[in-house]
This record gives sequence, structure tokens and C-alpha cells, in this order.
Amino acid sequence: MFQSLQALPPDPILGLTATFKTDANPNKIDLGMGVYKDGVGNTPIMKAVKQAEKIILQSQDSKTYVGPNGAADYNETIAKLILGQDLFQSLGKRRVTVQTPGGCGGLRLAAEFIGKANAEATVWVSDPTWANHKPLIGSAGLKFKSYPYYDHESHSVKFIDMLKILQQVPQGDLVLLHGCCHNPSGADLSPEQWEAVRDVALQQGFNVFIDLAYQGMGTGLEEDVHGVRLLAESLPELIIVSSCSKNFGLYRERTGAVTLVCDSDESCATASTVLTAAARANYSMPPDHGAAIVQLIMNTPELRSSWEEELKEIRDRINRLRSQFVQKLKDAEIARDFGFIENEKGMFSFLGVDTGQIKTLIENYSIYLVNSSRINVASINDNNIDYLVNSLAEVLAE
Ligand code: LMR
Repeated sequence: MFQSLQALPPDPILGLTATFKTDANPNKIDLGMGVYKDGVGNTPIMKAVKQAEKIILQSQDSKTYVGPNGAADYNETIAKLILGQDLFQSLGKRRVTVQTPGGCGGLRLAAEFIGKANAEATVWVSDPTWANHKPLIGSAGLKFKSYPYYDHESHSVKFIDMLKILQQVPQGDLVLLHGCCHNPSGADLSPEQWEAVRDVALQQGFNVFIDLAYQGMGTGLEEDVHGVRLLAESLPELIIVSSCSKNFGLYRERTGAVTLVCDSDESCATASTVLTAAARANYSMPPDHGAAIVQLIMNTPELRSSWEEELKEIRDRINRLRSQFVQKLKDAEIARDFGFIENEKGMFSFLGVDTGQIKTLIENYSIYLVNSSRINVASINDNNIDYLVNSLAEVLAE
């Protein structure tokens, strides 16, 4: 039977990291996968996470099953983190949150949930969007269309074009938005643009589906969810998929959630049973460890302030790196304006080089970036920035 299978190409992001690992060049740089790296290129375990793990190791007295929805206290904690205390209170039973195996598990679960609510639904994704959105959501059988998002010429959101298309999205379809730190472009919607999206969603009656993978990595824990909260307080229904991979550095622990805002308490009670059944049918229940860490950190004042402080250091460092990189590119007198990189948010920006130049960067310089020219700014550090800038100057001069 297996002989009938066709080999598939490697994942565009994970495959690149696998190749990077086998590269013997001591100067190699991995600008591909979106993980935070410190000044010496490590992806550290946050201090609060380490401390929480020690406490859990000492105090945990059972490994019995938790359940398809994960830990109820973690779910409440995540809802408060995303929505804020006031909205959390006012939504009451119109909101349900279910723990998932990371953001990917959450997207897959949400997609299955959407398919159950409307098998004919089309999900409208930004052009461009994260490379794994289509495989993840498509695997639940949903169809896709895209709306214009990033203008590679002006290096900004093509908002007029985006709005024009959103004005044609029918009721029953979903528009997938990135909550903050747009992946791959780093270009986010302004508060006014979020308001315009809210208005068109109300007018058209389509549903909004938000991927929130980077809360706290852009401008701040509160600022980064401005749009999410605006939509949660004004739309009758909303789907939010969140992840603790980046902001808690829990990548491999697979810690995420799906939060639904429903138009009534009854609708939410029903929707919640559909999420539970889908989780049970897919993976039975999510892994516990990461969620237990988040729950402990968020509910222990010293751990929470240590986490918030370290997250701020990470965010500030990424923003400093953006400025430093732009300055070095200017100093290298490359005949191009890279200033936009300084204004974008989160880990990613497009470098704006073509596929031939990307190939040269990978093959001749061991500088790895995905085919769209997306770079992970957090991979730049004092030891590799000059090599990166000089290599780019050479490749762009060719
Ligand atoms: C990325 O976009 O690089 C990260 O979200 C990691 C991944 O799973 O693709």
C-alpha cells in the first residue's frame, strides 16, 4: 500500500532550519524559523518558566488525564490575558476558551469547528500570510480566498485594496486576521484600520478569525491586543486562536488556546461542546506541562512580574535590532531604503530580495531565509550583523 505514496517537499520553514543545521560554515545565520534568539544565538528558557517548572516538579502529585478542554484555570487565565479583565467580565458566558496543543493545534481545531458550523465556509487569508495557514486550515476541508494585505513597493499595508475586497466577503465566510506582528510582513493594522475592519464585518456579516501568536512581542501586552479587544467587544461572534510559544518561549511544550465569543450564552454552551468533541476526536486532550507553567506564572505575582519584565526586554531588544540593522544597511551605502524594517513589529520583515538573491545568500554565504524573503530579525546579533550586512551589500551589488 505504501508504494502508492508520493514523497512531499519539506516544509518551507522547518525544512530550511533542517538544512541550516547541516551547514558547516561557522558564519552561517538562520534567519528562517520564527523563534526568538538572544545576543549569542540561543533560544533561552525564560526565568519565570524555569522557576515555575521547579515548583511544578516538586508539587505535582498526579499525571492523571485532564480532559479534552485542558485545564479550566489555564483557560480562564488565557482569556483574561487576551481580553483584559473588564471584557472578560462583561462577556461572561458569551465566551469560552479551550486549551490546545500550541497555536497550530488551535488553528486546526478552530478550522474543524468552522467546518462543523458551515462546511461551505471560505476562509479569506491575507496576501501574504504565514506559510502554514493554508495547510493547517485546509486540512479541515475549508476553502480559501485571499485579500490584498502587504504592498512590497511601499512596504506597508494596502489598506484601501484590502477594504475593497472585505466589502465583498459574504455572510458565512471568515476573514483571518493576524492579531499583531503580522507573519510574514511585520506590518500591522493601525487602530483606525481595525475600526474600519470591524465596521465592514458588521455591515457584511462575515465572521472574523484571529491568529494571535505574538501578544507582547510587538509594542506591549496590552497594545498588541487592541484590535482583538475592539472586535471582541463589538462583533456578535469571534474566533481567537492564541499561542504561548513565543511570548512564554514555550515552543516545544505546545501551549495554545481557542477562544470563542458567541452571540448568546446558549450559543456558547453549544459551541463549546463542538470544540470539546473535536478535540477528543483529534488528540483526546492537549499536553499539560506548558499550560501548568503559564497558569502558575500568571497567578504568582513575583513570577508574573519577572515574566513581564523579560518579555519587555525581548521586545525592546528586537526593536533595537531593527534600528541597528537599518543603520548598518545605511552605513554600507546599499542603494536601497530599508527604513521600513524599523517601523515593522514582531520578529519578521521582508528583506525584499528576489529568489535568485535568496539562493545566492543561502548557497554562497550560508545565510538562510525563506523564499518570500521573510527574515527573523531576532536572529541578528552583534556577532553576525556585520557579516549579514556585508554579504547583503555584495549580493545586491551583483
Ligand atoms: C514561523 O513562522 O517561523 C514560526 O511560527 C514557526 C513555524 O512553526 O512556522
